[in-house]
Amino acid sequence: MITALQWYADQGLDTCVLEETFNRLNIDPLELQCKERLLNDDSAESVGLNDHPQNVLQQARSKVQAQPERTFLGKSEAYEEALRLANQVENLEDMAKLIAEFDGIAIKKTASNMVFSAGNPQAQVMLVGEAPGADEDRIGTPFVGISGQLLGKILSCIGLERDQNDPQKSIYISNILNWRPPGNRTPSPAEIEVSLPFIERHIQLVSPKVLILCGGVAAKTLLGSDMSISRLRNSWHNYVPVTRGLNYQGKPIPAIATYHPSYLLRTPAQKKLVWEDMLTLQSYRQKNLQKQAEI
Ligand code: URA
Repeated sequence: MITALQWYADQGLDTCVLEETFNRLNIDPLELQCKERLLNDDSAESVGLNDHPQNVLQQARSKVQAQPERTFLGKSEAYEEALRLANQVENLEDMAKLIAEFDGIAIKKTASNMVFSAGNPQAQVMLVGEAPGADEDRIGTPFVGISGQLLGKILSCIGLERDQNDPQKSIYISNILNWRPPGNRTPSPAEIEVSLPFIERHIQLVSPKVLILCGGVAAKTLLGSDMSISRLRNSWHNYVPVTRGLNYQGKPIPAIATYHPSYLLRTPAQKKLVWEDMLTLQSYRQKNLQKQAEI
């Protein structure tokens, strides 16, 4: 049993939502609607281990038939709401509260914790990754799992630590998504879209001197580009918010894109390219940031 559970966990199946599996492609629409309602209904009594699946389904079926249609935010409504809220928020504390309370993103229901940020908000350098994984979801902090440990080693080689007080030596870290996609799947375009006003406002509030866009999802999303990470890395970009309608007063922020540490764990030969990117960043910091601080 332990081996079977470990196998499921390794495949990314780490959340148990129903008593038994079912084929979504071969099910009558009312039954599917019942199951989805049961999963989505916060007020539903929890499904007991001894409940027979047929009883559970019957319970859900009567709920669906008895209740009026519940209204969820549609895709564009959720985006408009995210934009409106992001424009209102004035500090990081409120930003974290707002994201925790925002109901326009369904993966919030399967995640254990909201993952907002780590490090020093005064840091000159801010890094944006993709989305929390299992360890981040459990702890509520970005980049604490195995790829986060590799990232920590890479950053410390250029003198950046997340728990440093000195803004020149510290780093501030967040992600495009604040909730873990189930099974660590790639975020969907809709999830990225609705999260974008939040992370872009988050960047504005931190106002870093340099951005590191870590991995293809962060780089393509924040640079508004379709180009692959291998083409986006190895040069400087001027980051300006992609979200139309975001109140924006700041200057463009120099941004460098690089490979994600989880890609490096699978393809260690690419570490040398990340090292090149870090040296590029290091030389920019030495020429521009430290000089600025001395003035
Ligand atoms: N990968 C990410 O992109 N972010 C995290 O926080 C952890 C893993």
